[in-house]
Amino acid sequence: MSIAIVGYGRMGQEIESTANEQGVKINAIFDVKNHLTNLSDYDFSTAIEFTNPDSVIENIKLLAENGRNIVTGTTGWYGQIDEVQKIVEHNKIGFIWGSNFSVGVNLFFKIVENASKVFNSFEDFDVMVHEMHHKRKLDSPSGTALKLGYLINENIDRKESIVSDKIDGEIDPKALHISSTRGGEIFGKHSVYFDSVSDEILLSHNAKNRKGFAKGAVLASEWIYNRKGFYEFREVIEDIVQI
Ligand SMILES: NC(=O)c1ccc[n+]([C@@H]2O[C@H](COP(=O)([O-])OP(=O)(O)OC[C@H]3O[C@@H](n4cnc5c(N)ncnc54)[C@H](O)[C@@H]3O)[C@@H](O)[C@H]2O)c1
Repeated sequence: MSIAIVGYGRMGQEIESTANEQGVKINAIFDVKNHLTNLSDYDFSTAIEFTNPDSVIENIKLLAENGRNIVTGTTGWYGQIDEVQKIVEHNKIGFIWGSNFSVGVNLFFKIVENASKVFNSFEDFDVMVHEMHHKRKLDSPSGTALKLGYLINENIDRKESIVSDKIDGEIDPKALHISSTRGGEIFGKHSVYFDSVSDEILLSHNAKNRKGFAKGAVLASEWIYNRKGFYEFREVIEDIVQI
């Protein structure tokens, strides 16, 4: 198995170092100055693509038409997901996309999902989500916090909605509160509190750097080798965890 890196920015460089550490062979690196062209000159089975929303669809088309498998972590193109699925199926390639390639975060999703099922039977416990990110982050709450919220609300019958705005009164007991803090250099910390009169159970994930995303992308490139079809990274983790 060998890979190509498409997009040699922060993530592309992290993927290069992770692939080297793990003995995964990199046969090509593409960026704006070395565009994806003449693909027949390059021998690789899977491209790991982290570019930007303006480039990703063209890159997918070109790679798919050349029969290469694709792992893409680029975000901001999900409005075109149906079109991309058709391209993947028409060209009979393997494709994995994900808005969060961190293995740790995806395992955290599984843990929170299962914990929510456990707490569903114990009405004494309320549940809340808190997330913290560095001062440069543009949006709140984070997509990861929202995903946690959806998982919790799907599994705890007494929670039906999400509130992430400022609250000027008592919170509706059916609402799940997702709060955010911005500042400093925090890479991304997500906490889920299960809280009752007598105790608190706290589940927390703290990202330390970009390495987790790169490791997940390299893992995905290994998983998709010799496979075809359209997958979300979550399905790769579920296939490995089997719960
Ligand atoms: N899914 C995840 O887990 C995850 C994690 C981190 C970042 N991201 C996403 O990955 C993308 C890249 O993030 P980044 O931090 O590496 O950004 P970056 O700006 O550091 O790097 C992007 C690179 O892509 C290159 N590029 C642009 N157009 C190209 C093209 N047509 N062909 C080849 N290369 C091209 C740019 O020159 C740049 O080097 C963003 O969409 C970001 O949101 C996703």
